[in-house]
Amino acid sequence: MSAIYKEGKEPHPKERRIVFKNVDRDGWDTSIAMYESEGGYDQLKKALGMEPGAITDEVKQAGLRGRGGAGFPAGVKWGFLPPNNEKPVYLICNADESEPGTFKDRYIIHQDPHQLIEGMAIACFAVGANLAYIYIREEFPEGAQILEKAIEEAHKKGYLGKNIQGSGFDLEIYVHRGAGAYICGEETGLIESLEGKRPYPRIKPPYFPAAMGLYLCPTIVNNVETLCHVKHILEVGGEEWSKIGKPNNTGTRILCVSGDVKKPGYYEVEVGSVTMGELINDLCGGLKEGRSLKAVIPGGSSAKVLRADEVFTVGRGDDTRDLTIWDIPMDFDTLAACGSMAGSGGVIVIDDSRSISWVLNNINNFYAHESCGQCTPCREGSLWMKKITDRVVAGKASPSDIDTLDSVARNIDGRTICAFGEACSWPTESFIDKFRDELVSDTNPELEEKLLNAESITAAANLG
Ligand SMILES: Cc1cc2nc3c(=O)[nH]c(=O)nc-3n(C[C@H](O)[C@H](O)[C@H](O)COP(=O)(O)O)c2cc1C
Ligand code: SF4
Repeated sequence: MSAIYKEGKEPHPKERRIVFKNVDRDGWDTSIAMYESEGGYDQLKKALGMEPGAITDEVKQAGLRGRGGAGFPAGVKWGFLPPNNEKPVYLICNADESEPGTFKDRYIIHQDPHQLIEGMAIACFAVGANLAYIYIREEFPEGAQILEKAIEEAHKKGYLGKNIQGSGFDLEIYVHRGAGAYICGEETGLIESLEGKRPYPRIKPPYFPAAMGLYLCPTIVNNVETLCHVKHILEVGGEEWSKIGKPNNTGTRILCVSGDVKKPGYYEVEVGSVTMGELINDLCGGLKEGRSLKAVIPGGSSAKVLRADEVFTVGRGDDTRDLTIWDIPMDFDTLAACGSMAGSGGVIVIDDSRSISWVLNNINNFYAHESCGQCTPCREGSLWMKKITDRVVAGKASPSDIDTLDSVARNIDGRTICAFGEACSWPTESFIDKFRDELVSDTNPELEEKLLNAESITAAANLG
């Protein structure tokens, strides 16, 4: 049935609503009756008649890449579960949605919870998990309630619990409220938190969740949006689904646009079907009046910033092309080739009214607050970066502080237990690479002289 949307909430013609089909739909509610009235749980019934391995094969064939940040292929991840495993297998839905600039999972949970439960149930059957958790961000109390209710309804209808639909397959799903920290979204930190501990990320190797996850048992962690796609893959088949989007960048994905555009919001598009220019100018109604584009952070606050006047050389051999920021197709591979990433789909648009020092300081404040503190480079470095940009914004930094800032960031990157190290250092590295002049222009050269004088006085005092 074609969907009718609430007034003012109609999808843009360039959107293709699959996962978000029921979001903002007129007359739609979260009840199981509504969901079933449009074929809800039919794909679970179909899955229960299949070989579990055949479902994983469909997901592999679809080429579904994770929507939580890293873009890792879901079917390949499921295939990492150890063969001949005798321990329980767990599935965790990562609903922590903590990356700044990202706001899609909450709408799925709030407006279409059964889609997620069906996707999870199919995934659990495929990987042999009889117990699954939805780890939901602490700040989403309403989402947690909606999920609890939906789980109860699914139980009553025999889509969860013992002997689901007479198949012999048992599954329980529990909602677990998060601990209110960004690092709880990192999969191994999440697992520690789920076990009732502080969310200290674990070292990989050996703690790859598929091998040693929850309670040191094989565990699959996937994002909300990723798990929803599983249902749609089964509906049309992996091969058909893989025709949506572009090769190696298949399916649709939800782009969350915030910042300096006329119509910020969520837009579900075929991966790579719109360029950055189309996203900003068509879907988001353009930049604010009289403003010009300064930069875009394309995949959540940890993604490297792209400068508006850059030329990006992408492709290989005869297929090498130069792209302006406006021409970049919003897909995993092209954004990576441009030196950034599609990440969690959070596109942050920055216009010429913004001070780069202020934007970077804002980001650094967040990461300094969120470091879990296990690794020295991250614990100390994230705070130093914040303190230096605090000084830049206050006009109390010297030009050489920018070099110090750069050095601090590059000494975090690659030297930590988890990828938070990169998440917190990439903004600083890329802002300095792209906007060094502006950052330096916000510093005070006179302070440099004072500092040098102070240093020579100290040196002289030490000598003398
Ligand atoms: C610091 C940090 C925070 C993260 N936060 C989230 C999050 O809030 N939600 C999410 O789905 N993935 C998050 N991730 C990625 C997860 O670790 C994991 O890769 C993801 O949940 C896997 O799901 P996917 O393969 O379906 O994307 C985060 C990663 C890092 C390093
Ligand atoms: S990189 Fe940062 S967040 Fe990750 S484990 Fe180390 S201190 Fe914690």
